[in-house]
Amino acid sequence: MGAYLDHNATTPPDPAVREVVADGLAAGWGNPSSVHAWGRRARSRLEEARERVAALAGCAPREVTFTGGATEANNAVLKGFAARDRGARTLLVGATEHPSVLETARYLREQGQPVAEVPADGDGRITPEALRDSLEANQPVGLVSVMWANNETGTLQPIPELAAACAEHGVPLHTDAVQAAGKAPLDFAGSGAAAMSLSAHKIGGPPGVGALVRDARRLPLDPLLHGGGHERERRAGTENLAGIAGFGKAAELARERLAGFPEHARGLRDRLEAGLRESGVAVEVVSEAAERLPNTSCLLLPGVEAETLLMNMDLAGFAVSSGSACASGSLKPSPVLLAMGIPPERARSSLRVSCGWTTSQAELEEFLEVLVPLVRRLQERTTHPA
Ligand SMILES: Cc1ncc(COP(=O)(O)O)c(C=O)c1O
Repeated sequence: MGAYLDHNATTPPDPAVREVVADGLAAGWGNPSSVHAWGRRARSRLEEARERVAALAGCAPREVTFTGGATEANNAVLKGFAARDRGARTLLVGATEHPSVLETARYLREQGQPVAEVPADGDGRITPEALRDSLEANQPVGLVSVMWANNETGTLQPIPELAAACAEHGVPLHTDAVQAAGKAPLDFAGSGAAAMSLSAHKIGGPPGVGALVRDARRLPLDPLLHGGGHERERRAGTENLAGIAGFGKAAELARERLAGFPEHARGLRDRLEAGLRESGVAVEVVSEAAERLPNTSCLLLPGVEAETLLMNMDLAGFAVSSGSACASGSLKPSPVLLAMGIPPERARSSLRVSCGWTTSQAELEEFLEVLVPLVRRLQERTTHPA
């Protein structure tokens, strides 16, 4: 009994990925910068991983720079831009971005960079119209950062349309595609974006590895880390080759699974949402009117304190979350939901269920069997307090 339904927080590495990482430490430990045979073998592993990540991202391998995760990739874009811009133009960020973008933007504002947020609508969408208004209102704008898919609600942003709106003003678009990777097709080249962040552990690779995909001509950046000439002088530091090789393998598998995973996940998500509604408990599906990731369901359960629900579900062996993983453990309502205009009281009742490719129909049915009576009990308690 029990199931892991928190795949947007992190998703377990596939056995094939574990093998590649272990082999990377056992046999592929050379330094890719060395000219001898050990170094050359390491270099070829590094470049194979780059090709695999590029195939998932829909970009050229030379556009991939490996990083220590997506937090680093997002920091590298925003700080790398600000280091060159020196406060001359506005940095525009979506209102529902991950903290690795919003907190970096806040820090840069404190350092003197003009920063503004593009508002989201009630379904968490950043519309091209809202972006155009923000571009007009904050001229001159130097960079826009809007995520491909939201980690809490699963809302997908219309990246090609947003890139087109940016192009009207000659402004590059960066997109955090961490949650979209492996769940929706990515096409960096066709999207119009100038840069894109990825994270290995969200697609079955190891944590602490990621990539910044970038068209360097359209978005020149100062490097975040200075040192040796690694990664074509874009990211100094000896590469985490075992981790990167695991990322490459995970990217290859994620790409193959795009043929079946989205449909499988959508079936589970739809069953969850229908099951809850049929049960008669009070429930609202966040971002239901928007295009969403097929594996993500963000639910508001009025009268239920999310933390109580999470603890009870944990005791029953089910892993879910409320808001983002970083926010759980604190009682603060999710800033993402607040930015969508959801009142704090309702936002505190949010539950995120996110499935992975290993999630089965049976696990979902068991989950519903435990969740429904629990929600019913908690909701009755608030309507008829003892
Ligand atoms: C949308 C989004 N961006 C960035 C990150 C940060 O990625 P990493 O854990 O690789 O630093 C996460 C992880 O929670 C995420 O969901």
